[in-house]
Amino acid sequence: MSVTHSLDTATSRANPVPAPMKRLTVPKLKAMKGGTPIVMLTAYTARIAQLLDPHCDLLLVGDSLGQVIYGLPSTVPVTMEMMCAHGAAVVRGSYHALVAVDMPFGSYEASPEQAFASAARLLKETGAAAVKLEGGAAMASTIAFLSERGIPVIGHVGLTPQAVNMLGGYGARGRDAAEAKKIVGDAKAVADAGAFLLVLEGVFEEIAVKASKAASCPTIGIGASAGCDGQVLVTEDMLGLFERVPRFVKRYDDLAGRIESAAALYAAEVRSRIFPGDEQIYRGPKK
Ligand code: KIV
Repeated sequence: MSVTHSLDTATSRANPVPAPMKRLTVPKLKAMKGGTPIVMLTAYTARIAQLLDPHCDLLLVGDSLGQVIYGLPSTVPVTMEMMCAHGAAVVRGSYHALVAVDMPFGSYEASPEQAFASAARLLKETGAAAVKLEGGAAMASTIAFLSERGIPVIGHVGLTPQAVNMLGGYGARGRDAAEAKKIVGDAKAVADAGAFLLVLEGVFEEIAVKASKAASCPTIGIGASAGCDGQVLVTEDMLGLFERVPRFVKRYDDLAGRIESAAALYAAEVRSRIFPGDEQIYRGPKK
């Protein structure tokens, strides 16, 4: 949709034309706990955001862009600059969903003050409404610090990919009773600290159900069962862009196969001098 602006002389505000849908807000999403499941997908670019926006409650500019967009081995090397650039693109491409941006590894763990400076930069430079950060009880004071200062925070517990070097891989978490108990405690701590939403990644159904009961805010599962208040997936996984995806991902399309077929057809046509396009445009104006 192309958007122009008209100046509202009563308020001196430039209003987009056509008037966009109103974005979902933090209080509205928070109130969705226990109701209609919350729909969330990742987006990293303006065009994908445009396509997903009407269908989603939230768009997450995940640091999974490290692997998906940049071909990095993990989310650890992702930078603030990457998150700012992609966050701004997704905000430009959306009108309805709330946009949240991941805080990259190293941008928030040192202190609440470091987290505030990074989160404020992300919100200022992208126009997003919220940030997401990984970690349980250990991050509670940071989440409280941000929330009390006007920065909406989404928590993320269970499998926390930024800690891959500590965890030793991306397997499901909570395999023993002590770890399962800790994850439920983490969920409660993060919600009590003020997170308005909580991502539960890679945990068994029993843990997801207990964590969802313990957390006062809605929980969004990824590989965490339908016991959560909503679901998030990496869009490119769900669209079938990669050969290998986690077992919990349902592929709704075979984008890799379709892109390969289209590219093969294009290559064959060019090599046969079938140049795509309307023949007329090559002939020039009619004489
Ligand atoms: O980085 C990401 O995309 C995420 C979600 C998949 C939860 O954190």
